[in-house]
Amino acid sequence: MHSSELKRAAARAALDDLVVGAVLGVGSGSTVDLFVDELAALASPPPALVCASQRTAARARSRGLRVLDLNEVLAGGASIPVYVDGADEIDPQLRMIKGGGAALTREKIVASASGHFVCIVDASKCVRRLGAFPLPVEVIPMARELVAQRLRALGGEPSLRESGLTDNGNEILDVRGLDLADPERVEACIEQWPGVVAAGLFAVHGADVAIIAAPDGIERRKATGARG
Ligand code: 5RP
Repeated sequence: MHSSELKRAAARAALDDLVVGAVLGVGSGSTVDLFVDELAALASPPPALVCASQRTAARARSRGLRVLDLNEVLAGGASIPVYVDGADEIDPQLRMIKGGGAALTREKIVASASGHFVCIVDASKCVRRLGAFPLPVEVIPMARELVAQRLRALGGEPSLRESGLTDNGNEILDVRGLDLADPERVEACIEQWPGVVAAGLFAVHGADVAIIAAPDGIERRKATGARG
């Protein structure tokens, strides 16, 4: 089975997690693109989406879905009970590396504003331990070298992503070689440095549910244990 078919299967399974009549948070990436297509095909799609990237917002609008700004939704007193997004890696505790599509900061914001994080992945994203995928870190451009030096001191090898700026006008450092045995600690450490906008570790707040599509079927995994 091709990975895009698995991604679509995971996306389709997440339709069961929608809260009828509620605004929905959505992330970014190729799996989310397929999820947006599934939403657009529903007889009663969500009344509005809050999107974590311009890419997702453009796709949703092009398929006739209503997109609202996060500020607008919150100021209007509405809640976002569910957030659906993909991941680059996910571990058994449902901690993730995200940001392969450069949307990590807005993903963290919308996820944080939402009630329940549903992660949709094909089984290739499941790892015993995070860290084979380079960790994306969004930085304010003037702080790039300062942050890079600190990442090196932490044991990482940062390299500047050349494919352009984030939706926020910032740069991404992709960091190889970090020891992520304690991802919550590394996330908290990196995110306190001036110039870092966000690290693509979603460990302090991981997913609540993972929908994992494999050739032999869909697995629905719930987070266990106490997480921040
Ligand atoms: C974007 C992300 C994506 O969720 C992640 O890169 C997975 O993407 P895809 O669904 O294309 O495999 O974090 O910033």
